[in-house]
Amino acid sequence: MFKLQTTFPKDFLWGGATAANQLEGASDVGGKGLSLSDVYVFDENIPKEHWTDQWHMMTHKQVEEAMDPTISRYYPKRNGIDFYHHYKEDISLFAEMGFKCYRMSLAWTRIFPNGDEVEPNEEGLAFYDRVFDELNKHGIEPIVSLSHYEMPLHLCKKYGGWVNRKVIDFYVRFATTVFERYKDKVNYWMTFNEINCVKHHPYVSLGVIEEGHPHIEQAKYQGAHHQFVASALATKECKVWNPDAKVGCMISYQLLVPYSCNPDDIQATVDNQRTSLFFSDVQARGYYPAYTARMFEEKNVVLETQPEDEHILREYPVDFVSFSYYMSSAISAYPEKLEGAVGNLLTGGIKNPYLPTSDWGWQIDPKGLRTALNQLYDRYQKPLFIAENGLGAVDKLEEGDIIQDDYRISYLRDHIEQIKEAIKDGVDVFGYTSWGCIDMISASTNQMSKRYGYIYVDQDDMGRGTKRRIKKKSFHWYKKVIASNGESLD
Ligand code: BG6
Repeated sequence: MFKLQTTFPKDFLWGGATAANQLEGASDVGGKGLSLSDVYVFDENIPKEHWTDQWHMMTHKQVEEAMDPTISRYYPKRNGIDFYHHYKEDISLFAEMGFKCYRMSLAWTRIFPNGDEVEPNEEGLAFYDRVFDELNKHGIEPIVSLSHYEMPLHLCKKYGGWVNRKVIDFYVRFATTVFERYKDKVNYWMTFNEINCVKHHPYVSLGVIEEGHPHIEQAKYQGAHHQFVASALATKECKVWNPDAKVGCMISYQLLVPYSCNPDDIQATVDNQRTSLFFSDVQARGYYPAYTARMFEEKNVVLETQPEDEHILREYPVDFVSFSYYMSSAISAYPEKLEGAVGNLLTGGIKNPYLPTSDWGWQIDPKGLRTALNQLYDRYQKPLFIAENGLGAVDKLEEGDIIQDDYRISYLRDHIEQIKEAIKDGVDVFGYTSWGCIDMISASTNQMSKRYGYIYVDQDDMGRGTKRRIKKKSFHWYKKVIASNGESLD
């Protein structure tokens, strides 16, 4: 029989999460190549409502411009917050908060600048040695994503991205290189960040440019298939170098609820939620679920596979399931009749009248996190890890280096309370890394002013500022949360 668990497990991994392309900067240092994310522009003159346009629909012209050294525009993700040169200071701040773990990603382009080289770039590898050594010095466990929206741009330009099967080999070479190099330093890996988002932004997830594409649905699912195979092969390879290492998948999990009890809304919700769960279904169970036959038929998708693929997927499923959770969304079969959602809602969801909304239109639903944890655990019976959760907000730096981010504390507190509820429900969740533990560039809007951190970075949307690091009120709060293992949330 199971024993009721009323507290966080004693070795629960508390920490924060970041991605190389959003914080490292130094994009022209140490032989780094250009990544897909280095192409995103921030321009104060573009109206705010268009800031996410490039995230959803990258154009050929913009990619060409980004590679043209004679064109000068501001590319925030090349700048990041210069973690590359500040990593010691930043990690020591994480340690001061008591982080048990730090979720980060490797810039593939530091190690294989173009992606198709045979030999890795030693300077890039050495940088991550220094980062891991620094984490180790502070007793912080690294949790490392191999690919977080930062594939080499060259693989998009020359090979057409993940639609091309050759990219599997390039990725596996990259993965094998880092598994071997860091076998004594890293015990937790994630293969692809938010793999289900290939549906929403094929450029940054797959290196596929949607503009003018003759059959984008085919490209998305073909690219995803190649990522599944690559992820399984990486999982196999990882154990060769470190048999105790754990490899996880990572999906963006937006809990969907029916807008009403109309049976059409209920079915629409099930169908919509499956379009995300499809990805973790394949990676966690090791095979394509039966519903995909109908899904592909309706999308006119015919996958090209190799005879060995089925075996590879079955033999090397992931060890754990991780996910980002920011919001939930309501689903109607007839959305055109209702008020639409705003912001970065990826599901075509509509506003849930019971929930508050962030300044970026994301609907805040802490109880949805408990539901999500239960759903995922019921479905997979594998350990879960909450890889991202947090509130993007504008913070005000007051005189005396004070930032009173009570709104962030209350968002995080409400969510952590619900994780505890899920633990009481019997869910096996072994860690929580809140997103953007230090302020950095927003993935979708490229703003600096959309801040998630416990640590404020003095930099504006155009990259101006001293880059000074300043502790927010939430810094001190999270330190207490970790010290009390989630018991003290006030
Ligand atoms: C997740 C991504 O989707 O959301 C992160 O994995 C991203 O890279 C985070 O930063 C928050 O989104 P945004 O657009 O507010 O930065």
